[in-house]
Amino acid sequence: MNSLEILDNDRMTQVKLLPTVIEITSQERRMINDAAVHLQRKYGSYENRDFIRHVHQLASYFLPERILHIAADFASDFSKNQYGALVFKGLMDIDQESIGRTPANWQSADYSKFDLYGFACALIHGALPSKPVQYYSQRKGGGLIHAIIPDEKMRETQTGSGSSTDLYVHTEDAFLKHQADFLSFMYLRNEEQVPSTLYSIRSHESIGENYRPLFERIYKIPKDANLETATNEEDTLDSVLYGNFELPFMRFDAAEQLFSSTIKQSEDAHHYLKEFWEEARHLIYSDFTPQAGDVILVNNHLCAHGRSAFRAGVRNIDGVEYPCERRIMLRMMSKVSLIDMRAHTLTEDPFFVIEEHLGKNFTDL
Ligand SMILES: [Fe+2]
Repeated sequence: MNSLEILDNDRMTQVKLLPTVIEITSQERRMINDAAVHLQRKYGSYENRDFIRHVHQLASYFLPERILHIAADFASDFSKNQYGALVFKGLMDIDQESIGRTPANWQSADYSKFDLYGFACALIHGALPSKPVQYYSQRKGGGLIHAIIPDEKMRETQTGSGSSTDLYVHTEDAFLKHQADFLSFMYLRNEEQVPSTLYSIRSHESIGENYRPLFERIYKIPKDANLETATNEEDTLDSVLYGNFELPFMRFDAAEQLFSSTIKQSEDAHHYLKEFWEEARHLIYSDFTPQAGDVILVNNHLCAHGRSAFRAGVRNIDGVEYPCERRIMLRMMSKVSLIDMRAHTLTEDPFFVIEEHLGKNFTDL
């Protein structure tokens, strides 16, 4: 059961839907570690297309049965009890020594140190099944895994490299028609003990008539803080909720859709969004603090993510501040179908997404 329940006048009343937490056993962890070591020997890097093309079969072969079942159920469960996030506690052993000091930023990270972890993450996506892909809109591609590392120069930004301000909850790449279906966040290091932030569209008691206007295509969907939205792109409108009316999916980015200083929604759109946010902001969950080796797997249509402000490289123990290694998290994104988005992938690489904004591609690659 992935929700808290209380007994209320002999009736079970659901009070709060929560992400499902799965404690990985030491035996399961050993299987996953061994699989990653074996696959690294065979394929060299998780970027190897032979590995990625076969990732579903490899997942079935190497992953513990319990995890395969959990992943398969998660991938096609859009029910009212599905939060849209799974937490795998202790999925991998992280060798802190071999990672060394946290690099200054993602640009200077040595990705060969992340190879084993990349294999493990790819297998989890493979089990859904979903295919790891890269997005030109994020770091010009930059590979199937992005290291998310706090960067002093980017402290104040609404990006993965920021730290000193809250990163508002958002579904990843809300400004794309073919945004990732699933995301994984593997924590290699979180010595600052920064809680993760999640928000599920399923946490609303009901998506009744009040929210029907969110299905209308009247909303400006600006790109995120990493990218500039051109003036003509402001005119492309879309809906915030989509799919099933009763149990919808969402493309939502509070910072960009509601609080952008440059892009103004129409009066109606702003009103509906604001009403929605008034309820949503009370439903944000931030009670889970990931430890090294934990993985959060998110359905990017059901569940948004973010993070609270923190001081990178500082750990507070009983009110005393100690220096620590800065946080490192590895993000992987995946799509269930390479066919559906073929108009938005590179001719020679269907795993490389070149959509720029709501159905329009980058032209200057
Ligand atoms: Fe994000």
